[in-house]
Amino acid sequence: MDEQPTVADITALQELMFPSAAMCVRVAAELRLADLLTDGPLTIGELAGRTGTAPRPLSQALRVLAVEGVFAEVSPGVFANTPKSTLLREGVPDSQYVMSGLGAADWLWASYGELGHSVRTGGPGFEQAYGTNLWAWLGQNPGAARQFNDAMREFSATWGPRIVASYTKFGEAGVVADLGGGTGAFLTEILTRYPAVERGVVVDQPSVVEQARTRADLAPLITSGRLDFFPGDFFADVPTGIDVYTTKQITHSWSDAQLVSLLKRCRDASPTARFAAAELVQSHEASKFLRHFDIMMYATMAGFLRTEDEYADVFAQASYELQRIVPTGTAFAIIEATPA
Ligand SMILES: C[S@@+](CC[C@H](N)C(=O)[O-])C[C@H]1O[C@@H](n2cnc3c(N)ncnc32)[C@H](O)[C@@H]1O
Repeated sequence: MDEQPTVADITALQELMFPSAAMCVRVAAELRLADLLTDGPLTIGELAGRTGTAPRPLSQALRVLAVEGVFAEVSPGVFANTPKSTLLREGVPDSQYVMSGLGAADWLWASYGELGHSVRTGGPGFEQAYGTNLWAWLGQNPGAARQFNDAMREFSATWGPRIVASYTKFGEAGVVADLGGGTGAFLTEILTRYPAVERGVVVDQPSVVEQARTRADLAPLITSGRLDFFPGDFFADVPTGIDVYTTKQITHSWSDAQLVSLLKRCRDASPTARFAAAELVQSHEASKFLRHFDIMMYATMAGFLRTEDEYADVFAQASYELQRIVPTGTAFAIIEATPA
């Protein structure tokens, strides 16, 4: 017989039904509340006055966040920063400012709205909402694409250094290609941390590469010849002469058949190259972060996180042998595979 639910069980379930947290984070970041609080706590009246907002709903949103340790209500109606809220400031180390906008972006919100469709049919919620796939849609919506690419860059600026430091074998490569490397943040981290790496190649869609090329901070690496670009569809073509193919946050976007075809293309293009993929590895003990990431991938593109065994299988299908999964002290691991 089922165990009887307690009042705590009912309340906990009801709490799960609120969609508020992501949107409160987005609103707080948009209003730059964390910047306003850098010199010390402010009353809700002062915060509302400086942001041109309504005090009551502003305090309600802040209190939702304070329950999670993002901002603190230090005395009634007076709010202060916390370590978590300071991450909503733009440009600070490990800033999550751009990501906070992406986390509650309208298109993501709409994708989750179609999650029932995903679960019933196996199709991506995004496509149900927009009638096309995410990458094609981003190609036609430059504002959303810029936010997406900037959020990826911010995400990579946070996790990239920690991941790259955990895998010193990057330093032994002559040429590294980053498949779906976005605007170059992850590869730049590899090139900077390991000066012995001769050259890095970002492989991504032409519009993304175009944005990467305009990044002033990449200019020294580009002009020195250490950073190169390979614009195009990685299912159609990948660069040759590579020692290490890497990815970050790529494999979970694609079906087994698509991923195997990409891996085979790399195997043919650079037969001796190994793979060092920075990805999220699913397991029975997976964290809340991985569980939520997993379903986000499904809602947006029918993607999913793979287990170690599933990775071994797709790599084997493309004639690679999975060697090891290297933990990085973050949610990401390095999946190392060599030609079989
Ligand atoms: C989730 S983002 C990850 C970006 C980057 N690796 C990072 O972690 O910051 C996925 C990237 O794959 C790229 N992408 C998607 N489809 C692609 C394709 N067919 N060929 C090349 N790149 C593609 C997207 O443009 C995007 O930059």
